[in-house]
Amino acid sequence: MCGIVSYVGSEPKAARLLLQGLKSLEYRGYDSSGIALLNDSVKVYKNKGKILDLEKNIYSLSEQEQSEVEQSICGIGHTRWATHGEPNDVNAHPHLDSDASLAIVHNGIIRNYQSLRSELETKGFVFKSDTDTEVIANMFSSIRKELLSINAYEDFKALRELSSRLEGSYALAIIINDSNLNDVTKPVKRILLAKNESPLVIGIGDQENFAASDSDTVLQFTDKIVRLADKELAVISKNTIEIQDFDGNEIKPIIEVLKQNDSIMDKKGYKHFLLKEIYEQPTVLSKMLSLIEDQSFTNFKLMDFQIDFTNIEKVYCIACGSAYHSAQVLKSILGTWAAIPVEVIIASEFNYQVNFLSEKDLVVGISQSGETADTILALQRAKKTGANLLAITNRPASAINNLCGVNTYITPADIEISVASTKAYTSQILAHYLLALQIAVARKALAEEFFNEILHNLKMLPVLIEQTLHRANAYKEQSLNYANYKDFIFLSRGINHVTAMEGALKLKELSYAHATAYPSGELKHGPIAILDENVPVISISIPSKYEDEQVTAEKVIHNALEAKTRKAPSILLTTDSNQDHVSEFDLVVRIPDIDQVFSPILATIPLQFWAYYIAEDLGKDVDQPRNLAKSVTVE
Ligand code: AGP
Ligand code: GLU
Repeated sequence: MCGIVSYVGSEPKAARLLLQGLKSLEYRGYDSSGIALLNDSVKVYKNKGKILDLEKNIYSLSEQEQSEVEQSICGIGHTRWATHGEPNDVNAHPHLDSDASLAIVHNGIIRNYQSLRSELETKGFVFKSDTDTEVIANMFSSIRKELLSINAYEDFKALRELSSRLEGSYALAIIINDSNLNDVTKPVKRILLAKNESPLVIGIGDQENFAASDSDTVLQFTDKIVRLADKELAVISKNTIEIQDFDGNEIKPIIEVLKQNDSIMDKKGYKHFLLKEIYEQPTVLSKMLSLIEDQSFTNFKLMDFQIDFTNIEKVYCIACGSAYHSAQVLKSILGTWAAIPVEVIIASEFNYQVNFLSEKDLVVGISQSGETADTILALQRAKKTGANLLAITNRPASAINNLCGVNTYITPADIEISVASTKAYTSQILAHYLLALQIAVARKALAEEFFNEILHNLKMLPVLIEQTLHRANAYKEQSLNYANYKDFIFLSRGINHVTAMEGALKLKELSYAHATAYPSGELKHGPIAILDENVPVISISIPSKYEDEQVTAEKVIHNALEAKTRKAPSILLTTDSNQDHVSEFDLVVRIPDIDQVFSPILATIPLQFWAYYIAEDLGKDVDQPRNLAKSVTVE
């Protein structure tokens, strides 16, 4: 949720770098944005809307104001995903304290903000916004004034006191106007940082330092980063970095030198990041498969996990959104290939559904961003029980990787900018197949011949995806006939229920149409009541050479025809050679031939295109759909 960026240096480039940083953070949250600059006073520029609006507003300031903006060597910036207070100009960050002596940006939620606000109001602090963040600004201001009044002010001391008052999650960056202090006591320009459960990374430059919510933003400016851990505080100036923990212990910065990444905001000629990311899928999957190229039945490993898979009695998958969908594939195949029961639980529901775990359980957390608060909290809870933890994430510098350490598989999908997940989702599914194979082999549950057949099928995926991508124009043409419907039902059964769920989610997120997925057998138990000529039903039926799965495919068709009988426009998604009842559908969407068990990745691709082209046709903001954010770092 939201992105923070800060700069302190010796050259007057704070405004430019903050705006550049914000553009690369915008995918994280984008309902409003702002920057605060420290010159002789603290000035805030902020508004509802996108970074481009902010930039336009700043560049249309008077000449004098602009020159002040352009002089600044220190500032903080924020792109918001509102949790408290509607997205508008006033609630946008940065927030000032009552007398504009400091400005603050915040990512997270302060749970006890109401009681703190009342306390501060009785002390005379005046609030302008509805946010929880303004409480932090005024609380810090109150602490600072009290310490200054007894000549005991010190940045870390004040930050420690602040942290002791805040309950909740926060990454904070604060700039302070010290112009009223006399020259002897006046500190250099600096930025105060605090981290608790929200991401924050420091970047080290030459006579300049940075801080941001993600390392990719910092890596545009420097290759040296220091990750702050939870419950750490920092003060950075142009040539110093000091870190302490909440107890006042000094922490020696661990500097990592990373490969700089200057092209994350490059759409590579595609109209949208979403389209670029859809087209990157064969490359990502090929990369994953190339890493296991030399492996065979006797030594197969997705990764060298430090887990004894022979000892596992039950697997729990915890995730949200698309990552949750992907986990259903692990459930289907691990059950079949290794006869291990798997439960897939929405991370935010984990607390209510799982009351005890033991060292015989494996808890798999799946998260593209590795920062999703719900998933992190569920994993933290699982960790305390002694259960085995394993993570699948797309972000190496993430809290989930930190939590699961060596038992983390990083999908090589590179950064995914579009808020709707595509390449990260399909790479998670491939990771599930490969993990299931590793577990099944470790438990001696698979015959070598079957193992080879599975691997052969998985290795075919990149080529089949390429072939599917070549059909984009056909998918576009087909989808546009349905662009103006407001409600959609997606149906399937068995392993492709995940495809129905993902297809519905993509359409919802991108086009704002109402779309719901049901296991097709469930239709007649209620949802069928809503069907009429205004509710297209998209049914996914992929044949199989295995008898049980083939019966599943046939049952989907029959359920789909029950919907058609109720006048619902009927769309069938199936393989090229399937002829089963196809003439009875209004439209047949085809993918290359593939067996059902390996089809969830391939079958998702036309649905990604459908969602994309419908949204584009409706003029929606494809890469940054309304109300969403790429990483959901609040519960
Ligand atoms: C997918 O298109 C979504 N935007 C969303 O459901 C996402 O998958 C979910 O928020 C989980 O995110 P994560 O994978 O980063 O944990
Ligand atoms: N809770 C704060 C707000 O609503 C910060 C939200 C964010 O992380 O963007 O302003």
